[in-house]
Amino acid sequence: MDTLVIEGGLPLRGEVQISGAKNAALPLLAATLLAPGEHILHNVPDLRDTRTMLLLLETLGGRWQRDGATVRINTDTLSGAEAPYDLVKTMRASVLVLGPLLSRAGFARVSLPGGCAIGARPIDYHLKGFERLGVATSLEQGYVEARVNGRLRGDTMYFDAPSVTGTENLLMAAVCAQGTTHIQNAAREPEVGNLIDMLNTMGARIEGKDSDSLTVHGVERLVAAETAVIPDRIEAGTYMIAVAACGGKVLLRDCICRHLAALSEKLRLCGLIIEERQDGMLVACPEVAGNSLCALESVDVTTQPYPGFPTDLQAQFMALMAMSEGTAIIHETIFENRFMHVAELNRMGADITIEGSRAVVRGCGRDSLSGAPVMATDLRASASLVIAGLAAAGTTEISRIYHLERGYENMAAKLQTLGARIHKVSA
Ligand code: EPU
Repeated sequence: MDTLVIEGGLPLRGEVQISGAKNAALPLLAATLLAPGEHILHNVPDLRDTRTMLLLLETLGGRWQRDGATVRINTDTLSGAEAPYDLVKTMRASVLVLGPLLSRAGFARVSLPGGCAIGARPIDYHLKGFERLGVATSLEQGYVEARVNGRLRGDTMYFDAPSVTGTENLLMAAVCAQGTTHIQNAAREPEVGNLIDMLNTMGARIEGKDSDSLTVHGVERLVAAETAVIPDRIEAGTYMIAVAACGGKVLLRDCICRHLAALSEKLRLCGLIIEERQDGMLVACPEVAGNSLCALESVDVTTQPYPGFPTDLQAQFMALMAMSEGTAIIHETIFENRFMHVAELNRMGADITIEGSRAVVRGCGRDSLSGAPVMATDLRASASLVIAGLAAAGTTEISRIYHLERGYENMAAKLQTLGARIHKVSA
């Protein structure tokens, strides 16, 4: 199995180009199933998850071609309506084909995703929403089967909690429904906004972007579109936290600063200098006398749906707090089991205890972490171990890095250009 080897202790300096967002690219790729013709998507990151989604489109009859970050997808003829277990088990976001397949073909069969490393993650909101639109759903041998006779019918629905992929799936189902659909308590994540923009470019009539109340006026049909994936706020946030942990000064080129407001505020409270610029975000770690790094203030964090602090940056922020000068309480409110990184961080010298949905992080100062062999358990947990390894004294060896490759494009190469000593060792 491949590993990442990191020699920690060096500051990060220079510029890093932020890639397209994984969690925006996946629904945009799924949306190409809604209309025949050639769709052109720019800024599509080349990741394990985007490759899985392209493979899924292929199994449904789509054809695609990649040229750099631009992917052309043709879904003129669909030859199937099934997302098989083998693909869904490697990527839960495969469920995003349910909405577009129902809209285009009136039928879909998708393997029900099981629980994963961060929680149970049911899809009941998606299914209840489809049922409001006139879809009959059933569970057959581990597969969700969804069917509608004729067109879907617009209706009003309310999510108990704002679900990101739930909102995306329902939007894609409702765009060509008869009449109007209202989605209340919808997710406001920028990735949902990116999808709304693409769907409207395809001819949909969706109102309420960036709010928790969306209105979809159904249209007869959509056409293929050309659109771009937004920059990845979680990738950018991960590099911001890495600079805070290691010291230095880095420009995150092309990230959208307002998408990172919650993290920027927390990092400023920690003592970082954050400058929002036209060309991206500049993050700098102040130095004190004798060129040593400033001490990190400890700051509490509660994860929330956007625009709150993202759960996808919780693990990375926890690694930083392990090096702070006080006690930070990190409250995870989105997923019930997203603390798998704690045991690994503790092996590197952190002092973190879990109390229900809260982690109590007793910061032991900047010099407290030391390199160790550790194991990645999920995508963002892996990123927190990279940050800890970059800041720790000595060598850190991270195994199971396929998790990292699901969501970070060229992470080792990007960190190398910033001066980090990090390389991948292939088994
Ligand atoms: N929920 C339900 N029932 C549902 C749907 C959601 O109970 O039918 C609950 C979830 O269990 C969770 C909460 O609602 O407690 C919110 O989950 P959400 O549906 O928003 O999560 P998701 O759509 O499955 C997306 C991202 C995740 C990110 C979350 C939260 C994609 C492909 N995935 O997941 O990204 O953590 O939103 O922001 O967009 C990652 O990139 O590492 C990642 C896990």
